[in-house]
Amino acid sequence: MKALEGVKILDFTHVQSGPTCTQLLAWFGADCIKVERPGVGDATRGQLRDVPDADSLYFTMLNHNKRSITINTKHVTGKEVLERLVKECDVLVENFAPGALDRMGFGWERIQELNPRMIMASVKGFGPGPYEDCKVYENVAQCTGGSASTTGFLDGPPTVTGSQIGDSGTGLHLALGIVTALYQREKTGRGQKVLAAMQDGVLNLCRVKLRDQQRLDHGPLKEYSQHGRGIEFGEAVPRAGNDSGGGQPGWILKCKGWETDPNAYVYFITQAAVWGAICDIIDKPEWKEDEGYATPPARLDKIAQIFDTIEEWTKTKTKFEVMDICNPLNIPCGPILSMKELAEEPSLRDTGTVVEVDHPTRGKYLTVGCPVKLSDSPAEVTRSPLLGEHTEEILTDVLGYGGEELDRIVGSGAVGDVNKAAAE
Ligand code: COA
Repeated sequence: MKALEGVKILDFTHVQSGPTCTQLLAWFGADCIKVERPGVGDATRGQLRDVPDADSLYFTMLNHNKRSITINTKHVTGKEVLERLVKECDVLVENFAPGALDRMGFGWERIQELNPRMIMASVKGFGPGPYEDCKVYENVAQCTGGSASTTGFLDGPPTVTGSQIGDSGTGLHLALGIVTALYQREKTGRGQKVLAAMQDGVLNLCRVKLRDQQRLDHGPLKEYSQHGRGIEFGEAVPRAGNDSGGGQPGWILKCKGWETDPNAYVYFITQAAVWGAICDIIDKPEWKEDEGYATPPARLDKIAQIFDTIEEWTKTKTKFEVMDICNPLNIPCGPILSMKELAEEPSLRDTGTVVEVDHPTRGKYLTVGCPVKLSDSPAEVTRSPLLGEHTEEILTDVLGYGGEELDRIVGSGAVGDVNKAAAE
């Protein structure tokens, strides 16, 4: 039995943020019924295609373990089918542009009329306020949530990160909101609205930067390397390059081969507790006792110089050799791993974090499996559905249509081609 077995999700999501959320719920055992427009489907099915006529990796990697039904929700019969789904399901998850669901006739009041136990969960770009009607994509959220202004180097422009904190990050937040609402429903019997705004999600992940904004009122941020380099702070938290963000100074250092390998680097942290061991490996034993280096406060104005000296040592080792030497000494460090290295890493395959999946039209591909492991509810990754693959199955098994009623629904043109779907 899976943790969320028996929970039915009406998955009205598209692109990345919403699908990330429902994919997680599906991995935890929920029955995820993805509603898509007949003949069109989630726009990402056709985006960034690498194999002609096959669903893109963008789509397949965000929609595992789901079923797909195609319904034209603007058609009167399509609305009828959707109403049945609302009555049947526990959670509706959507990330349409603001107002789209109301225009479709399925706003919160109507949902409550149809099913008072329904949890209606939405991702939107912004919460209530001046920008609530805006359409938002990943990088807009990174920029408006405080990430871009604090990412990058001091002398460079604001920078977006490779981690999809706006989309996938907000999807994670929404998933937590949904299971929490399900838990509350156990006691109250009532559904509720769950909103995860992308700006809020990014700001939550940038919490330590709002911390620093307030510390700035009380003096310079001494752990920022900018301080050591004698550069004054402005009014807002600056971009801090590869500074650690915490109380233990850290930086990215070159390793052997850096001249030709863009990822021959290591993240190195000069944790106070292991300062002596660091001095020994970089052959600076005198820094252990030297008043100018012996304590963390004494080192604050020399951080850049200290990392330059450590780098002279790391440049003589590969990033993995640095790990091998530092780990036994409890010196925290981490090699910069490329996507190629991660894709090939056996330990990630062993844990199911990287999984190979087979797909009928694209063949085998790699994906990231469930990043959260439940001992009593292990996640098995199954391929994403073809467009409308489960239309007939859902109409009959979940919604109970049959005989003439099923013929009427299919004949209306409001659902996808069920015979084709069944054949697939
Ligand atoms: N049948 C008929 N119509 C359907 C349908 C179906 N099965 N599914 C969706 N539609 C319609 C919607 O009703 C809407 O129509 P309307 O605008 O006439 O009311 C339309 O499709 C498009 O929806 P929309 O969400 O506006 O798509 P978009 O491609 O224009 O915008 C986003 C994409 C992501 C910018 C937008 O959805 C958004 O801002 N979402 C919230 C924030 C978010 O999640 N962003 C990150 C995405 S990773």
